[in-house]
Amino acid sequence: MKNFPAKFLWGTATAAHQVEGGNWNSDCWLLEHATPTAFVEPSGDACDQYHRYGEDIALLAGLGFNSYRFSIEWARVEPEPGEFSAAALEHYRRVLAACHENRIAPMVTLHHFTSPRWIAAQGGWEAARTADRFASYCERVARELGDLIAAACTINELNSVQMLQTSGLIAPDEKIVGSRWRAAAARAAAVAPEEFSAFPFCTRSICRDVMLRAHRLGAQALRSGRGKFPVGMTIAMEEIAAEPGGEALRDAALAAEAPFLEAARGDDFIGVQNYTRQRFGPSGPLPPEPGAELTLMGYEYRPQALAAAIRRAAAAAPRVPIIVTESGIAAADDSRRVAFIDATLAGVLGCIGDGIDVRGYFYWSMLDNYEWLLGYRPTFGLIGVDRATQRRIVKPSAEHLGRIARANAVDAVE
Ligand code: GCO
Repeated sequence: MKNFPAKFLWGTATAAHQVEGGNWNSDCWLLEHATPTAFVEPSGDACDQYHRYGEDIALLAGLGFNSYRFSIEWARVEPEPGEFSAAALEHYRRVLAACHENRIAPMVTLHHFTSPRWIAAQGGWEAARTADRFASYCERVARELGDLIAAACTINELNSVQMLQTSGLIAPDEKIVGSRWRAAAARAAAVAPEEFSAFPFCTRSICRDVMLRAHRLGAQALRSGRGKFPVGMTIAMEEIAAEPGGEALRDAALAAEAPFLEAARGDDFIGVQNYTRQRFGPSGPLPPEPGAELTLMGYEYRPQALAAAIRRAAAAAPRVPIIVTESGIAAADDSRRVAFIDATLAGVLGCIGDGIDVRGYFYWSMLDNYEWLLGYRPTFGLIGVDRATQRRIVKPSAEHLGRIARANAVDAVE
């Protein structure tokens, strides 16, 4: 038996747009429905969690989890600038209350990729005032809901733009601005393409400073409202490695990440999010080696990557506790998910054994849900969803991780 520390948070993670359904006032919805679009399908009803949160939260509790990370949708809470929806806030109050009734500690994320349409139409995260707008939304959420929040993440993966660019996953700036899909979404928002910007397809490097300022102001607002709960940011952290000749590019990727880890030094925790490893060669990011096992995302199957990311975060901010706010695998064969969970947790235990203060582990994701550009194809969930009926289908991996959560221990580690 290998035990985790007392009060360890065991949870699953989701994001509003990916599970709630009908998030039509968001920028992502515009992008999904523009012609042409970069998305393979629209999010539609997603997992209808907007209505089914009660059964979902009870299901998590029944499986053995003690926490749930979900996001509050800004586009619902502030549908137009300065106009807050009492009904949307009341909805999230009911969600938070359902967590408490089920002894689930709610960790909320204030921004998980999607913004209200009106933010995107005003320059999105490339416009300096978005940071102030975000802080005012955080202030309202803390005032109305803070007493029920157990922990808060300001912005999900605020380093995404930098990371997607260094890993070669999104096109360089000019290509996005000139893309037909961005122009189509801008038309739908009734603004010029240069004025429309949806995260994470930002084009100007100013977005990093806007995000970091939004994080700082948002965290202050969350701390000054009702309730007292830890606040942090979440950072996308691949294991980063160099093959011979790739050292300079590896170092550039690490340098792009550094300002975020530095900014997290004043926070209550760092949310580490990891899925795989990125290797660099002399002329750019390298694909997985031939013959490597791949996940449904095309990523290298690399459960060791999480521990590498935790160690990097701990080295950069040694006094800040770490919470694994996302780790997961898209796999059709659920037994690969079980193996992935076991191997990643062995890595987490190794980090804890070396004195790193890791306080929780949130598996991405609770449900098979909307994987952005890739639609519903990559299945990350511990729980499947029948797309015709919305019926939840508990997979063996959910029961496996639930047992570990309940025991706060694993008995078979590598
Ligand atoms: C992210 C997000 C999630 C994704 C998950 C799987 O890291 O991109 O936080 O929204 O769905 O990572 O790709």
